Amino acid sequence: MPYSIAIDGPAGAGKSTIAKAVAKELGYVYVDTGAMYRAVGLFCLRKELPLKDQGMVSAAIRDIDISIAYDQDGAQQVFLNGENVSKEIRTEEVGNAASLVSQYQPVRDKLVSLQQKLASETSVVMDGRDIGTKVLPHADTKIYLTASVDVRAKRRTLEYASKGISADFAEIRKDVEARDYQDMHRKNSPLVQAEDAILVDSSELTIDETIDRILELAMKK
Ligand code: DC
Repeated sequence: MPYSIAIDGPAGAGKSTIAKAVAKELGYVYVDTGAMYRAVGLFCLRKELPLKDQGMVSAAIRDIDISIAYDQDGAQQVFLNGENVSKEIRTEEVGNAASLVSQYQPVRDKLVSLQQKLASETSVVMDGRDIGTKVLPHADTKIYLTASVDVRAKRRTLEYASKGISADFAEIRKDVEARDYQDMHRKNSPLVQAEDAILVDSSELTIDETIDRILELAMKK
């Protein structure tokens, strides 16, 4: 039976960095589910669909094929109707679009079944918002990874700066708060800590300390 580690938490908590490292350490496959929602968001933006129109976005999902593959370094690549969109999806605009379209159940149904199929085939570290609650309710280890809004906004500002993208802390902080609200208050699969998930607050932890903490929790199982 493949093993699974579910890591959920709000935007900017460092889930992908941490999950990637944990997967590498354990020899599991890292699955970034946010990237799949981002690909759907990108499709809708390109088609200029009104993102708040549930009917139009839900109808569009029929024309969308999302698949993932891994490059030689083990990095996840996301394909939207056969096109590798792994770089295009990494913008704030696409992240916000993903947050909006991820509210709709037909979008979730399609992506959740893809995620469940992946986890049934191989051991995974999967990160997202609903992995421990909906996608893999029987995951071997469940982590709820969070950090304070200020810390998350600061990390994101530094990340943009390191890529040479100018970013305003106050604006990013507002964005982080808005995204938290949207992800936590939607009707379908809102972001909540699963009852049996272990809370890891990385506000005061370095990346390495956070990875060690999660590895320690995973090994105890
Ligand atoms: O983790 P991320 O920023 O790449 O995710 C983008 C959006 O996708 C997030 O704001 C909400 C949605 N999402 C989701 O609803 N469920 C998941 N499992 C992962 C992401």
